Amino acid sequence: MKIGIFDSGIGGLTVFREISKRLPSFELIYLGDTARLPYGIKSKKTVNKYSDNNVRFLKSLGCEIIVIACNTASSYSTDLLKRKYKFPIFDVLSAGVAASLESEAKRIGVIGTSSTIESNTYQRTLKKRKKSIKIIAKACPMLVPIIEQGLAKENYSKIIIKNNLALLKKSKVEALILGCTHYPLIKNEIKKFLGPRVILVDSAEEISKSLFKYLKTNHPKEFTKYKKKRRIYVTDKSSYFERASKKIFKNIEVEIKLVDIK
Ligand code: DGL
Repeated sequence: MKIGIFDSGIGGLTVFREISKRLPSFELIYLGDTARLPYGIKSKKTVNKYSDNNVRFLKSLGCEIIVIACNTASSYSTDLLKRKYKFPIFDVLSAGVAASLESEAKRIGVIGTSSTIESNTYQRTLKKRKKSIKIIAKACPMLVPIIEQGLAKENYSKIIIKNNLALLKKSKVEALILGCTHYPLIKNEIKKFLGPRVILVDSAEEISKSLFKYLKTNHPKEFTKYKKKRRIYVTDKSSYFERASKKIFKNIEVEIKLVDIK
C-alpha cells in the first residue's frame, strides 16, 4: 500500500521521517512542491490549486492514502480535498488539535505561517472541540526562512525566535502547537525560550500515531517484516534541498527526483 505525503518544501520531511520510522512496511512517496514554495504567504485559492495538483500527482503514482504534511495546506484545503477525493486524507492540523486537547492544557498557543493563522482554522477547530480553552495564536513568518537556510543557531535568529514567541511566554501558555511542519526542526530552541513546562505539540509525531492506528485497524495485513521503498519528488531540485534532506535523514539514502506538476 502506497502512502503519499506532501508539503511545500523541507518542513514535511519531519512528518515523512516519523511516518517512515513507524510504518517501515508501507511504501512512502513524498512530494515537496519546492518550485512554488512558500505556501505560507499565499491565498486560499492558490494553496487550494497547489494542494489539488499535489494530490492528483500522488494519486497518479498509485497512492491510496494522502497525508497533508503542511499546516497551510491543511488549514485551507483539507475540506476541499476530502470532498473531491474518495481515499483517506490525514492532515497535520487535526492531529495537532487532538493532541493539544489531550494534554488537558487550558491555555493553548498556536504558531504558524501568516496564512495558517489568518485562515483561523486552528482557532475555529479548537474552539469547536472545547469552548472553555483560551487560544493565543501568533503568526511567525520569519521562522520558516531561518529554518530553511539552516540559520536557527545564529545569534540574530535567537532574537527572532525570542521576538516571535514573547507573546506566548507572556500569555503563559501551557501547550504550544507547532503549527508549521518546519518548526519541529527548532524544537530545542523553542523549548529553551519557553521553558520545560510548556508542552510542545509536534504534529509530525501525532499524525504518524493516528495513521498507525488507522492502518492497524483497517489494513493489518500490510504490517509485514519487509521494508518498503521511500521516494522523494520535488518540483525544483536544488543542492540546498538535497543538503537539507540529508541532514534530516542522516544516514538514510533517499533518492530525490525532479517532477513537473500542474
Ligand atoms: N511547511 C509549511 C507549513 O506547515 C510552511 C512552509 C511554507 O510557507 O511553504 O505551513
